[in-house]
Amino acid sequence: MKLTVIGGGSTYTPELVDGLARLRGALPVTELVLVDPDGDRLVPVGAMSRRMLARAGHPARVVTTADTAAGVAGADAVVVQLRIGGQAARRVDETLPLACGCVGQETTGVGGLAKALRTVPVVLDLADTIAKHAPDAWIVDFTNPVGIVTRALLDAGHRAVGLCNVAIHVQRRLAALLDVRPDEVDLGHAGLNHLTWVRSARVRGVDRLPGLLADHLPALEEISNLPGGLLRHLGTLPSYYLGYYYEHDRIVERQRTGTPRAEQVAAVERELLDLYADPANDTRPAQLSERGGAFYSEAAVYLLAALLGRPGTAQGDAGDAGVPAVQVANVRNNGTFPFLPDRSVIEVPARITSKGPLPLPVPPLEPLYAGLVAHVSAYEELALDAALHGGVDRVRTALLAHPLVGQHALAERLADDLVAANRDHLPWA
Ligand code: G6P
Ligand code: MN
Repeated sequence: MKLTVIGGGSTYTPELVDGLARLRGALPVTELVLVDPDGDRLVPVGAMSRRMLARAGHPARVVTTADTAAGVAGADAVVVQLRIGGQAARRVDETLPLACGCVGQETTGVGGLAKALRTVPVVLDLADTIAKHAPDAWIVDFTNPVGIVTRALLDAGHRAVGLCNVAIHVQRRLAALLDVRPDEVDLGHAGLNHLTWVRSARVRGVDRLPGLLADHLPALEEISNLPGGLLRHLGTLPSYYLGYYYEHDRIVERQRTGTPRAEQVAAVERELLDLYADPANDTRPAQLSERGGAFYSEAAVYLLAALLGRPGTAQGDAGDAGVPAVQVANVRNNGTFPFLPDRSVIEVPARITSKGPLPLPVPPLEPLYAGLVAHVSAYEELALDAALHGGVDRVRTALLAHPLVGQHALAERLADDLVAANRDHLPWA
């Protein structure tokens, strides 16, 4: 099979390649095409990917190209993992909102809106090229903000599924605490991308989350980056992105004096690119673990394998039960949360079939969670409207709808500032 990665020059690509090599029985890739306009990244990342596959004895050939149409032609699946404007634009997302006392984050709040505005038109354009040259290909979107980008792709009629590594990461961490295999942990994960709560963790039908909250609170604090008192009060495990809501002001205080994540990541990326350029390196470098994408490769390989119709048929790592039929993905709501429109995109466990993902029923969300999910989902709809149709007024409306902004004076100022700072990346500005 042919797998194409758009944004293939990303320093994350060797993470994905590592997963392809380890789980090769799940996904028999014969051709891996890395598409990227940035040759300074693509060349070392491509060379590193070749060396890693060769070392693993993996038969896939690696092709690098800047030509999207040629790169996707005839692909069975296309992974999209790009970052418009690179870490420089991310730095603006993380710092600009601070002047207004709002959190600086690349997917949550003001920064997430800026990222959506930059990203949606580019991804839709790429998806048109994919539809033309690989009409049957599945598009797996890891590009943030995943909820909004996935909604854009689905609304435009593409065969797309949104992917995030948060759920698989939590599943792996809880499995280790419970001393069971990851695939034995059935995660009651629900919400929107980067706005989720784990409300149960069943092992052979028994919910082990209450026991974890009782016995392993420090580990759960570490996973969620939230205080144990709050976790016990909720009786659930929020994703660490919920800290941007539950600890908003505290995080803003810290961010005012701290080093933006974009700068930290840029430094790691420089190191990684040097390593990739050195022919002596042919294994996944430890520095990749300093990135947020832990287990991204496994999540991606399993999702692709299930979409391409091979769930449960192959063995991956020793001790791994193969491709899970149910995986957490970003999919259309279609009644899963009755309080949201069917067309909204949500992040829940879904049965992944070769015809697409089918969200499983979710126990009703408690008002505490449903309220925030509805609020942010409405914002996402308005953010997509702004990304598709442009104009500072639409940006302002989306910010008014965001629970972390909301006030009109803030929305007005931030809309102006955000559009000005991103002008080079906004076709309409
Ligand atoms: C997690 C999220 C991704 C995000 C990443 C950021 O993996 O699920 O959506 O892109 O963190 O990691 P970074 O190392 O770039 O801060
Ligand atoms: Mn994510």
